Amino acid sequence: MATEATQIRDLTAEFPVLRRQVDGHPITYLDSAATSQTPQVVIDAIVDYYTNHRASVHRGVYPLTVEATDLYEGARERIAAWLGSTPRETIFTANATASVNLVSHSWGRSNLGAGDTVLVTEMEHHSDVVPWQLICQERGAKLEYIPVLDNGMLDLDAYDRLLELKPKAVCVAHVSNVLGTINPVQEIARRAHAVGAIVVVDGAQAVPQIPVSLPELDVDFYAWTGHKAYGPTGIGVLHGRRELLDEIPPFISGGHMIKQVFETSSTWSDLPGKFEAGTSQIAEAIGLGAAVDFIQEIGIDAIRAHEQALTAELLERLAEVPDLTIHGPLDPADRGALASFAIAGAHPHDIGEILGREGVCVRTGHHCAQPLMRRFNLGSTTRASLAVHNTSADIDRLIAGLHTVRSTLQL
Ligand SMILES: Cc1ncc(COP(=O)(O)O)c(C=O)c1O
Repeated sequence: MATEATQIRDLTAEFPVLRRQVDGHPITYLDSAATSQTPQVVIDAIVDYYTNHRASVHRGVYPLTVEATDLYEGARERIAAWLGSTPRETIFTANATASVNLVSHSWGRSNLGAGDTVLVTEMEHHSDVVPWQLICQERGAKLEYIPVLDNGMLDLDAYDRLLELKPKAVCVAHVSNVLGTINPVQEIARRAHAVGAIVVVDGAQAVPQIPVSLPELDVDFYAWTGHKAYGPTGIGVLHGRRELLDEIPPFISGGHMIKQVFETSSTWSDLPGKFEAGTSQIAEAIGLGAAVDFIQEIGIDAIRAHEQALTAELLERLAEVPDLTIHGPLDPADRGALASFAIAGAHPHDIGEILGREGVCVRTGHHCAQPLMRRFNLGSTTRASLAVHNTSADIDRLIAGLHTVRSTLQL
């Protein structure tokens, strides 16, 4: 198939690690769904903070701290504006996992009680399952699962039946990290709100690859993570509806999140400080701001078009490999830029290792989605995921590598 995946400039040279060779092979990086590579502009922003502006934020009055605060808060403003949120409703956390834990603890402790129901989907990452399990156990609430159909889409009829339980919260991934499914979050939220539930979205896989407009989605909390969006590790974001963030108690407590501390009680900082205890992830937030600039400069629509065309090519080329099964929706319009697959007779671990010898980096395992693996009777899968810098040549190397896997394993 002639790929249309040429609408954006060749970005390979802008990711320093992609210039490396491993055992004489160029790196074919197909694991951006686990963590994306870092473009030079993001590295430069982090180095610039450490080299020229390093100081703590918020607390000082001397020029360095003012500069650092401007960089840090400037990053927040640009990140918030990008997704249609506001700086007050944009909280920096450690990662998507920490963002979900903030909601499950702070909202869950003050809103869940015995007999209440929380809905999650069968395709959730563990980071959007385990925090809900713990808070449900603590509060005596029930956790119910929205099933996934054989084609990898959510069963929305079953969802409607579950809504009759009048759940207090509906927690859903925007894009599945295993199936690639893009879930109809706006519609899921509309139906959840009609029964009075809040909607918590795990946007970890969505933000770097599809346009996200929080006002359009109209959800209550939206969690994502910097390291999958060309940003540094150690930083995540939680966007929350202001009324809810004002209402719920803090999660982590200590410095910066207080207004006044008395001997036996305290009052809280205005948003977002109330949820950002301790010294902030300054370099990380600045780096994430640069990552968002990088994405915006290319354009998220252009990124989606590039990755969707490449995904179509990936699915088509994978289907040519004998005995290979692709999991998840087969229409690239319904999925993000990844494909999980199995080859009959080949353990995913062996596939990953043999590909790795040729510089082809893919993910193998349960992808932190064991309930989903169980649903499809799978122990593990191999996952190839794409990003802005990938081209048809990367898919050629993957397919050639899969033929090597088959011959090495004598399939
Ligand atoms: C869909 C999804 N949600 C959440 C996460 C967790 O992200 P983090 O480990 O950065 O918290 C991941 C990471 O693999 C993911 O793919």
